[in-house]
Amino acid sequence: MFQLLDGKNTAIEIKNQIANEVRGYTQRGLRAPHLAAILVGDDGASQTYVANKEKSSHEVGFTSSVYRYSAGISEQQLLETIDFLNKDDEVDGFIVQLPLPKGINEQHVINAISPAKDVDGFTPINLGNMVLGEECFVPATPKGICTLLTQYNIETCGQHCVVVGRSNIVGTPVANLLSRKGTDCTVTMCHSRTKNLAELTRQADILVVAIGKPEFITADMVKEGAVVIDVGIHRIEDASRKSGYRLLGDVKHSEVDERCSWVTPVPGGVGPLTIVSLLQNTLQSYKRTMGL
Ligand code: GUN
Repeated sequence: MFQLLDGKNTAIEIKNQIANEVRGYTQRGLRAPHLAAILVGDDGASQTYVANKEKSSHEVGFTSSVYRYSAGISEQQLLETIDFLNKDDEVDGFIVQLPLPKGINEQHVINAISPAKDVDGFTPINLGNMVLGEECFVPATPKGICTLLTQYNIETCGQHCVVVGRSNIVGTPVANLLSRKGTDCTVTMCHSRTKNLAELTRQADILVVAIGKPEFITADMVKEGAVVIDVGIHRIEDASRKSGYRLLGDVKHSEVDERCSWVTPVPGGVGPLTIVSLLQNTLQSYKRTMGL
């Protein structure tokens, strides 16, 4: 029988702790932590993510602001907003929601974010410090995955972890975090050009899937008793649902779950922890700024 790594309830618990801590500060007369977001264009998934960020910010007592722009905004205009937020002493952290529209160089934009406010942990300084094990903002989704493994006391030391997907946002940083001292996994990194992928994924004690393809991982690719972390979230049209869609992960849960010891559901697995990690990073920035 598999057990669920319940991201939803874990997120509620951590948000309650953050809310209590923030209440303590504001009751002392300090301002609330402030998380801002820049949202460009009308991508549905990005809008959902930013709306969830706003809702969660309010739940924990943070100030939240969103700078919305049409897809036609120039890179220069975006850089000006980033400069403004970098200099605003009352903004503790901000994110630029990705992906950005074609024609805007994402790395240029990310490089303009002050590392001290880069609560997504995407700037070269933060990623470099993460690899060195120095103080930094750890990217939200990888941090959330580590939080879930810790919360459920999943043994990681010496375990073989196979990461599927090599994105800058998830695969690359999570592979680094899981192999570092203290977590101590032996990590294999796989991607779209990997040969004999199933042979490798079948060797995983812990399988982290962030490949961005609905139901890509099937039962024959998973070892009996594995821990499976599904980072994917895809809206699939479904006329039988009131919403008109259903959500699928990168893992075919209908056949994989029964092979697992632990598995993250979709939705309600990794997703809620990503937002919580962003709140934790913003609180970390706030405490540094306020000398707490
Ligand atoms: N797009 C998908 N995931 C993320 C994320 O964690 N942060 C930002 N800024 N954009 C994203």
